[in-house]
Amino acid sequence: MTGFRKYRIYAALLAAMAAITATAGCGNAPRPVKGEALQDAPSDIAAVYKSRCVSCHGSELQGRIGAQTNLQHVGARLSAEEIAGQIRYGEADGSMPAYEGKLTGEEIEGLAQWLAAKK
Ligand code: HEC
Repeated sequence: MTGFRKYRIYAALLAAMAAITATAGCGNAPRPVKGEALQDAPSDIAAVYKSRCVSCHGSELQGRIGAQTNLQHVGARLSAEEIAGQIRYGEADGSMPAYEGKLTGEEIEGLAQWLAAKK
């Protein structure tokens, strides 16, 4: 092999390595779009959730104040009626406020239906 051809191969290798590092460089794991868990909610219901619930239950329903506030699979534990009751009356110890009178019946129902589908 001539010196020149060696050089060509070397240059091609370098270019390939640079391309690999460039594409692998910046954390290539797909990141969830923020609020992805809300995308299947009707937009008015998502808006209610964002203004009233997100502070404790999180933008991905992941729960922000302990495991019991994770709602990602709440529909596997509770029916829509039970969820609506939780929203209406809150938690007896005051850790979750009651939304009876603060949200409309339709908003409470909408939240409950949407969350009940989270299995
Ligand atoms: C101030 C914080 C706070 C806010 C705001 C809040 N929650 Fe909660 N929520 C909690 C806590 C704490 C619990 C867990 C209570 C327990 O089981 O001890 C809970 C429980 C729940 C549960 C039952 C979960 C289960 O598996 O038993 C549902 C459903 C729920 N919340 C829905 C909502 C919705 C919908 C909103 C908005 C309208 C909301 N929450 C607003 C704190 C909050």
